[in-house]
Amino acid sequence: MTDTPQFTRDGAGNLDQTLRPNSWEEYIGQAKTKENLRILLTAARERGHAAEHVLLYGPPGLGKTTLAHLIAKTLGTNMRTTSGPAIERVGDLAAILTNLSPGDVLFIDEIHRLSKSIEEVLYPAMESGVLDIIIGKGPSARTVQLELPPFTLVAATTRISLLSSPLRSRFSGGTFRLEFYTDDELARILHRSAELLEVPTTNELLLGIARRCRATPRTANYLLKRCRDLAQLEGVALDKTIIDRTFELLEIDTLGLNAPDRTVLTTIVEKFGGGPVGLNTIAAATGEEQSTIEDVIEPYLIRQGLLERTPRGRVASPEAYSHLENS
Ligand SMILES: Nc1ncnc2c1ncn2[C@@H]1O[C@H](COP(=O)(O)OP(=O)(O)O)[C@@H](O)[C@H]1O
Ligand SMILES: [Mg+2]
Repeated sequence: MTDTPQFTRDGAGNLDQTLRPNSWEEYIGQAKTKENLRILLTAARERGHAAEHVLLYGPPGLGKTTLAHLIAKTLGTNMRTTSGPAIERVGDLAAILTNLSPGDVLFIDEIHRLSKSIEEVLYPAMESGVLDIIIGKGPSARTVQLELPPFTLVAATTRISLLSSPLRSRFSGGTFRLEFYTDDELARILHRSAELLEVPTTNELLLGIARRCRATPRTANYLLKRCRDLAQLEGVALDKTIIDRTFELLEIDTLGLNAPDRTVLTTIVEKFGGGPVGLNTIAAATGEEQSTIEDVIEPYLIRQGLLERTPRGRVASPEAYSHLENS
């Protein structure tokens, strides 16, 4: 034994990996998606074919990457991971595709960021399992067709609206929207996390975190860890006081809104009379990226009934006014 601190399991950057479910039983919620995938994967495995391509979408932290891992695990194949922004040239995609083994899962995260020219190489690969490569330039250029090993593309995106419809239509295995989680589901997720992180808690305390984590497992786990850190620093057990203080330090309110969430809501109410106001105007007035507002902030505000999307712009609801007044 040495006194060297063990920087392992719960280093902040690895929290996702440490707490990532390893089985369908550990993957809580998303019942409909799980059931559909189960049928798709079981059928494919029984036929001895690669499963059809699957598209997963929804706000960050709801479990897309985790599902991709579970899909590969269920198929009993390897998973190769890449992302839209990482595939810059057609050659990058060609290299990835030609290096797959039969049956592999190719996971492309942030697929909405693939360029058009790369999408066009992806279509025949998804549809007919071939890669069209152009060799040479000008009049002497010719197309060579390479046969690819059968593979399953699992793609994830936070922005389904940015996907071209030809690309969307090629996910023959299905397109699945991940939903926000209920408080009970989040409490169950936190229960497992607390065990892995070796934090003694009660269901009541876990529900207290579950109610204020933007209905998002990643945030729930992050908050649990922050609470544990404070408890450890103070040399006390995790209790309601520690949780309340952690939320206060992180500026998270009773509905789970964080500072950027509130800034967007307050801006709409105070600067634009509650709306309707356009997304780009909100972005300019708050200094938040438009994509952050659309991908991260808005979905939760809408889910909480605080914000509405109308054809003329975003509108704050009466609930938004009462929430801002009372907090
Ligand atoms: N359904 C779930 N059940 C249990 N934990 C989950 C679930 N979904 C997500 N998590 C937790 O949240 C973390 C982030 O999930 P991840 O799959 O990376 O989200 P996304 O790829 O959608 O951003 C995971 O590492 C896991 O700890
Ligand atoms: Mg992910």
